[in-house]
Amino acid sequence: MTAQEQAERVVGKLAELGVPCSLLSVTEGPQVARAELEPGDGVRMHDTRKLSRSDDLAYALGATHVRIVAPVPGRSAFAVEWDRADRRTITLDDLPDAGWPLAPTIGLDVDNKPVIAYLPDAPHILIAGQTGAGKSVQLHAILCALLRIAGPNKLRLVMVDPKRVEFASYDGLPHLAAPVASDTETAVGQLRGVVENMERRYRLLETLGARNWADGNDALARLDRDTLPYVLVVVDELADLMMTSRKEVESLIVRLAQKGRAAGVHLILATQYPTANIVTGLIRVNVPTKVCFAVPDMTASRVILDRNGAESLLGRGDGLLSFGGLPPVRFQSAYVSPEEVTETVSRWTKVSA
Ligand SMILES: Nc1ncnc2c1ncn2[C@@H]1O[C@H](COP(=O)(O)OP(=O)(O)O)[C@@H](O)[C@H]1O
Ligand SMILES: [Mg+2]
Repeated sequence: MTAQEQAERVVGKLAELGVPCSLLSVTEGPQVARAELEPGDGVRMHDTRKLSRSDDLAYALGATHVRIVAPVPGRSAFAVEWDRADRRTITLDDLPDAGWPLAPTIGLDVDNKPVIAYLPDAPHILIAGQTGAGKSVQLHAILCALLRIAGPNKLRLVMVDPKRVEFASYDGLPHLAAPVASDTETAVGQLRGVVENMERRYRLLETLGARNWADGNDALARLDRDTLPYVLVVVDELADLMMTSRKEVESLIVRLAQKGRAAGVHLILATQYPTANIVTGLIRVNVPTKVCFAVPDMTASRVILDRNGAESLLGRGDGLLSFGGLPPVRFQSAYVSPEEVTETVSRWTKVSA
């Protein structure tokens, strides 16, 4: 069955279920196909939302995961998305190169368009999802995309990996301000160091008469002095830090999140625990960009995105990206293998050796 045929089945099935509608468009992304539908006379959005709880559609489509988007933001239409039988793995080579400054393409949307996380505008990212959903792969994809284009004079990394599983292969990178922090005490120490660095940058910007980091770098360049690299803090498993010293870690993160952007300091925090004691209210508000991969239930989806939806994702890099509470965009993240990480890192370690 082609996606078009499946979409026609959706229309037929919906009519049977008492939700008449007409087909507006069909698109196919790497992981899902999507039909946009115009509700027939007398159909309310509320009626379409209920469909997400029925198995009939999935059965008619031969799909395992059906997701209803009602309404499609800004339109009087709704959408049905289902998993493709021939789901495609995408890699960094399928994506446009990262833009500079700090604009990694994180994947392709359901129309195969690149989805970009532009950090200067949306300076910090929270990545959530259950184990195996694709968080660590997403971090590697962002890091490798940036490492393809940015040397240590442009990008400094602070990496925290309390489980010691993900970031070991980055050790030795000249971009690292300090070795990858693999225990929580070292990690908290490094976060304190970043806060101090940020405060120093604020004082420097003041003496330069610059309003922000970009102006400051222009001023430094005019004075023939070294410019300030971006600082990117990447944490793979925020929970480990929060469980050790919640109050201090929360307050360090909130300070960096609130004041970081103007000083060129950015955060990416990943967690498999979308619960209020890890992703606290303060962290949620101050880290407005959310990437949510598959989660076990609607409650978890709401903690991260303020709405349902992530509970119907497929896993393995099928994600929703949301900026500051805007309706999320569904995308498939790029797969980066451990070998590719090692390869990317070794290009830099060879240079600096
Ligand atoms: N974008 C992706 N494309 C294809 N497979 C993926 C992708 N992301 C994750 N996977 C698969 O899922 C596994 C678990 O992903 P991982 O990022 O380690 O999950 P998490 O960190 O959320 O527990 C990976 O080893 C890989 O096999
Ligand atoms: Mg992981």
